[in-house]
Amino acid sequence: MTDRRLARYATLAALLLAVGGMTTLVSYSVTLYRLFCEATGALGTTQRVAADTAQVAARSVTVSFDTNVAPGLPWRFTPVQRSVRVHLGQDTLVFFRAENLSDQTIVGHAAFNVAPGRVGLYFKKIECFCFTEESLGPHRSVEMPVQFFVDPRMAQDPNARDVTNITLSYTFFRSMRPQGAPNLARFVDRPPDPAAGQQVFATACADCHLLHHAKVGPPLAGVFGRRAGSVAGYPYSPALARAGFAWTATRLDAWLADPQKAVPGALMPFHLDDRLRRADVIAYLRSLSPPVPSRPPS
Ligand code: HEC
Repeated sequence: MTDRRLARYATLAALLLAVGGMTTLVSYSVTLYRLFCEATGALGTTQRVAADTAQVAARSVTVSFDTNVAPGLPWRFTPVQRSVRVHLGQDTLVFFRAENLSDQTIVGHAAFNVAPGRVGLYFKKIECFCFTEESLGPHRSVEMPVQFFVDPRMAQDPNARDVTNITLSYTFFRSMRPQGAPNLARFVDRPPDPAAGQQVFATACADCHLLHHAKVGPPLAGVFGRRAGSVAGYPYSPALARAGFAWTATRLDAWLADPQKAVPGALMPFHLDDRLRRADVIAYLRSLSPPVPSRPPS
């Protein structure tokens, strides 16, 4: 084989690998979105665009998130992630957190803006909560998913070709037409979903945990109901080895939210902020454990 042919094969192999990696990401986020929006009934009620997943490009951009609350709306509203780097055409799922700071149910209304304006056309949202009136109960807080992709056609537009950063800004206003607004709590008041939890496990835990063998962390099959720090041969931190409790849903939730707070001195270098994703992954781990026998009546 000549050097040039070799180089071409190498490029092809690299491309195939890249596309393979992207497809995984894409199908992951689509599934996650479906799980969120189908479970919450949001799919039918919002405006949607279909993502052209066949067209994920190598070119990438950074998308930053900015949030504002108009005067007169006692809500706190923040992006869960400040920015993400995405390939053109790649389906991406991000979260925003809203909290009603008042004692009353309030209906808000979101408006968004994309900067620079000349790329607005290419910013496609497949969203759950925009343009609609959204109700939030007193002191409730929710995390709302937004799914988007940047249209690969942006790369061909001479006016947009140079853009490397896109900012998505959301502003929440107090609604003028609060009647019949869907409740944002639909994003949180859904039962934990083991199938979504399996996806969370694959993306967030599997770097360090296998189900049946130790990796960086101990094996997790059967962890639900198991005594903490009790897998023989795994080098636990003394703190976890001496913790002395069995893993319940409550213990796992506290552990995943903040391991060092749950068990001071523990060594898991990872936490999961999103309560729903914690509940999902716990439901998944629970589904892998034999049912905890109920105690016979005494
Ligand atoms: C960066 C590596 C890393 C990641 C990512 C990680 N863990 Fe861990 N995990 C560890 C380590 C290390 C320990 C042992 C901690 C100790 O000994 O204090 C641990 C311990 C645990 C334990 C205690 C198990 C037992 O036998 O008592 C549970 C439960 C757990 N992890 C769940 C998870 C879940 C669920 C995820 C994903 C949402 C996750 N971990 C992500 C490294 C990780």
